Amino acid sequence: MKVLAIETSCDDTSLAIVEWIDGQVVCRTIVAYHQVDLHTMYGGVVPELASREHLHQMIPVLQQLVTNGGYESLDSMMQDIDVIGVTASPWLPGSLIMGRTLGLFLSLRYVKDLEYINHLDGHIFSFLLDRWQYWQSSTVVISLSGWHSDCNLLSIDGWQYWQSLSIHQVGKFRITKYGTTRDDAIGEVFDKVARLLWGPYPWGPWLSQQAQKHNAESLLAQYPFAVHTFKRIRLLDTYDSSFSGLKSQAYTFIQDYKKQLGLTEDEVLPEQIVSHLAYEFQEASTDIVLAMIQQMIAHHPIDAVALVGGVSANLRLRQKIQHYLDSVVRDTGQNIVFYTPVSFDYCTDNAAMIGMVTCVKRGYC
Ligand code: KG4
Ligand code: ZN
Repeated sequence: MKVLAIETSCDDTSLAIVEWIDGQVVCRTIVAYHQVDLHTMYGGVVPELASREHLHQMIPVLQQLVTNGGYESLDSMMQDIDVIGVTASPWLPGSLIMGRTLGLFLSLRYVKDLEYINHLDGHIFSFLLDRWQYWQSSTVVISLSGWHSDCNLLSIDGWQYWQSLSIHQVGKFRITKYGTTRDDAIGEVFDKVARLLWGPYPWGPWLSQQAQKHNAESLLAQYPFAVHTFKRIRLLDTYDSSFSGLKSQAYTFIQDYKKQLGLTEDEVLPEQIVSHLAYEFQEASTDIVLAMIQQMIAHHPIDAVALVGGVSANLRLRQKIQHYLDSVVRDTGQNIVFYTPVSFDYCTDNAAMIGMVTCVKRGYC
């Protein structure tokens, strides 16, 4: 069973062919065009430019998919496809319309069923791509990107006493949303703090690279005043998250260090201070995510934790979660499995995860 998947919700034009085979969804071919260069000079994605670029790139990306898939023509590729899945919501309307138009055209032209897929469901199921299934689990899915920081529970049989929460069904799976972002999403704050430090795009990965360069001893030897640490802000009695306070703290610390060093607003802080701030920010933001996971595990019978979305590429966050789950096994004997997407390409926006949800919705898995 093969799916042609289309994802154009933001600034990535991504097409993939995924196959439901031997009990798992496997990505056969994926082609993506990233609009990085186009938006970098504006400091963020410009919606109108993004949708126009999708229009330019869609056909070349489709042609590349035909070639990479080993097909002779679009006709022969479409003969091999059983169903089309396209991201229908949420995010940028102009960008979504581009993908939806392509999906609709292909479905009418080649008489194929068309499934409209929610982008957030794509991230939630992304950790199951190219991986054998284990479906008996109740999995906490922490979905972190530039737009959202969500805490979900993915299960098959619903837990009735949680019905006051927002629940929706995808195929046989039930997704219970425990918490979402109240202000800035975690990825958005990685991006904003990196920009306050005059870092280059892509900001999130750049900031975590800077954090790795942090060396407390040499920092304090040279800059004894560089002692700021971030407050870990958790909202009470909720799984919702608020990350904008970290951004404000970063701004205050940067102003303070610039004042101490006699630098103007436009001047860049010394490398060691940049890596110190990046490190402290990364430690605080990842601690907040970890606390959310700890709270879920403490209160619910959880079998697995899955980390998905662009920020799931962050190695420090992965390391902290793994360490914590190891300590849970040691202390209680409870073995909680930890999943991240099998490829870094499946962390950020991609069409393969849309194909995965299409398979789930069709009831293949
Ligand atoms: O899921 P995604 O590709 O797009 C959205 O749906 O938003 O996530 C992009 C976000 C960006 O904010 C980016 O800075 C962040 O993921 N990101 C990271 C890392 N790689 C990407 N944040 C922290 N550490 C990383 N290594
Ligand atoms: Zn996304």
